[in-house]
Order: sequence, then C-alpha cells, then structure tokens
Amino acid sequence: MSAVLLNVNGIEVIYNHVILVLKGVSLQVPEGKVVALLGGNGAGKTTTLRAISNLLAGERGDVTKGSIELRGDRIEKLTPADMVTRGVVQVMEGRHCFAHLSIEDNLMTGAYTRTDGKAAVAQTLEKVYAYFPRLKTRRSSQAAYTSGGEQQMCAIGRALMANPKMVLLDEPSMGLAPQIVEEVFEIVKDLNTKEGVTFLLAEQNTNIALRYADYGYILENGRIVMDGAAGDLRENEDVKEFYLGMGGGDRKSFKDVKSYKRRKRWLA
Ligand SMILES: Nc1ncnc2c1ncn2[C@@H]1O[C@H](COP(=O)(O)OP(=O)(O)OP(=O)(O)O)[C@@H](O)[C@H]1O
Ligand SMILES: [Mg+2]
Repeated sequence: MSAVLLNVNGIEVIYNHVILVLKGVSLQVPEGKVVALLGGNGAGKTTTLRAISNLLAGERGDVTKGSIELRGDRIEKLTPADMVTRGVVQVMEGRHCFAHLSIEDNLMTGAYTRTDGKAAVAQTLEKVYAYFPRLKTRRSSQAAYTSGGEQQMCAIGRALMANPKMVLLDEPSMGLAPQIVEEVFEIVKDLNTKEGVTFLLAEQNTNIALRYADYGYILENGRIVMDGAAGDLRENEDVKEFYLGMGGGDRKSFKDVKSYKRRKRWLA
C-alpha cells in the first residue's frame, strides 16, 4: 500500500459566484501511482485539476466547500507557484507552449522555480531529452513549427523541468494521432516507474487512460459516479458500454441508466 499523496475531499467549485460545476468531488492519489480522471465534455475534469493546482482564481472560480490535502497539509490557499515548490505541476489542456520560443527555451521556462543551481537544471534537461528524444532533435526549432505530438511532449517536458513529485496532466491525447498518443502514454508510464513521478491525468479517452493508469475515477456532471482499479473498470459492463464504445445501445451516459439496481452498484 502506498501513502496517499493527494486527498481531495468533497470539493465544490463555483465559477463567477453562480455557476456550480463540481458538486462534492472526492478522490485520492497514492504516491507513485497513475490515476485517471475520466469523463466526457464539460464533466469537470479540468476544473478539478485547476482546483488542485490553485489555477481557479484566474478563471474566476472558487473552491466553496471541501478540502484538498497534499501529504496531509491543506493546500487550497496556496498559489500556483507554491504548488510547484511543493512538487505539483500542471500540464494544461491544449499543450500551451510559447509559440515563438525554441523547444529548449520552452523547456527552460519550466525550471524557473528551481533553486538548486544551473548544473542540476542542465542535468534535468538531459534527462528530459533522454525520455523525449524527439525533443532533443527539435531542440532549436521554434515551438510553433513543431508537430502537435512534439508540442505535447514539450509541455510535459517543461513540467518535468521543475523536478515534480506529481504531474497533473490535462487531456494529453487531445488532437493527437493514435500512434503519438501511445508514444506519449508510454513515456508517462516510464516516468512513473523509473522516476517515481505520480500522475493524475484527465482524459476523455477512457480506453488509453485505463490501459496506463492504476486507478480511475469517472466524473459526470460534476460528480464522481464510479471509481475502481483500472483493470476492474475496463471489465465493467457499464464502463464498456458508455465509455469504451463496446455497447450496442444508444445511451451516452450513466445517468441515462434506468435500472435502479444498476445505478445502485456505484452509488452504494
Ligand atoms: N472559466 C469558466 N467560467 C465558467 N464556467 C466554466 C469555466 N470553465 C469551465 N466552465 C464550465 O464548467 C463545466 C466543466 O468544465 P471543465 O472544463 O472542467 O470540463 P472538462 O471535463 O475538462 O471538459 P473537456 O473534456 O471538454 O475539457 C462546463 O460546463 C464548463 O462550461
Ligand atoms: Mg478539460
């Protein structure tokens, strides 16, 4: 059993003082694991990650209920920079690279909170290049002229430059060809097993996320409707039907299930 690194406890998030988006979300991320936060468009995945990394303020969002703990310390009042110092870095949805900077300069921006000196930073850069050989080849290319896959790798690489204990990865598969998605997830798994980096990844792509994660939570309309070990979720009939595209029906979401019994299975 690994210790709980991150504990999200019944959080409610409201945007613009009126729009209630998260309605009591609880989840745990054990140290050294890969946890997937799954769900469709607008389910609240990005909002959950923003709440954890304290990026809600810029979006006029507030955590109005519940608590978030990192190794037992409350973190809701910290700034995003404090979070980075504590080893938690978010890779934002849509792989935000600085378009006019080279890949290497983009990576270096991720090291701005480091206080352990140039040599240590240079060492991390070499490590990032070892994990992402494509970035090394493209190190002096302007990010704007690199491929979507290279930009996603650059965004993850930049997060790694902060030497994080935990990475919050928002929708890494978005807009990428299946083969590149696979490559990105392989690297994530490698970073997890070899460097011990813990991941919380938000994904609409349930299939790939559950193949690489240890544990998964399914979010619908601001609530967790199911959670379990990734292997169990992959075998679950409801997950297969609604999220893995294996069902024959036309129901699109858990909430359309009429059967009380079925519903009870995950509400119990
Ligand atoms: N800054 C904001 N102000 C107001 N409402 C917002 C804001 N950001 C998100 N929302 C709303 O919150 C809900 C959840 O959005 P969120 O981006 O967290 O979902 P998501 O699960 O990440 O979706 P996607 O898979 O499309 O990225 C949506 O209804 C969205 O419209
Ligand atoms: Mg999102």
